[in-house]
Amino acid sequence: MTTPSHFDTAAQTWDQRPMSLQLAQVSAHLLEVLPLDSSQHWLDFGAGTGMLATALAAHVGRVTALDTSANMLQVLRDKGFANVDTLCADVFDGLPQSYDGVVSCMALHHVADTAGLLQVFFAHLHPGGRMALVDLVQEDGSFHGDNEAKGVKHFGFAPDALTTLAQQAGFVNVTLATVVQVRNRNGRDYPLFLLQGERPAT
Ligand SMILES: C[S@@+](CC[C@H](N)C(=O)[O-])C[C@H]1O[C@@H](n2cnc3c(N)ncnc32)[C@H](O)[C@@H]1O
Repeated sequence: MTTPSHFDTAAQTWDQRPMSLQLAQVSAHLLEVLPLDSSQHWLDFGAGTGMLATALAAHVGRVTALDTSANMLQVLRDKGFANVDTLCADVFDGLPQSYDGVVSCMALHHVADTAGLLQVFFAHLHPGGRMALVDLVQEDGSFHGDNEAKGVKHFGFAPDALTTLAQQAGFVNVTLATVVQVRNRNGRDYPLFLLQGERPAT
């Protein structure tokens, strides 16, 4: 039997965590800034229990929620959104199709190979497709504290270096801005960035 991941163990109470409640700000911000319409199919990478996927679902045609944690995705399926599909797979195992956009909230720092991840996103966007990724600005490792147990691969990201990686993956119109701030249980505030980019239309 395989050992359950941190996320499988945390799934049932994930949405009630004070941090999850604060991260609702991220969905609200993305709904404001992204050009969404009902013809689109978006991918939510590291969707977890679908905080972002379910918010997007009201504004687009279909959302695919990708995650390696079966338990997180089960909590999402139990919410009963007809136009949200779940895909229990590792992002590096190959995606079944291309999308009009890819979003993600707080999943990037769990993937060691950031350049490879951005290349996967680029390869699975339609021409003109959009990427919008939210994660921690570089921090000192205090956000999670028990980093190894939680599968943390990066203590946030340095904005300039991440922008360069997105450009190297082929994205254009790349922007990175701090969009919200969250207060952790240690009482400290941590800024989150939104990295946006587009796959060229031709
Ligand atoms: C911190 S949680 C964020 C969940 C959700 N986006 C939210 O904000 O509540 C990170 C999620 O990314 C998933 N994840 C990590 N690495 C992954 C990978 N290589 N492929 C797919 N999902 C992954 C984890 O299973 C976990 O559910």
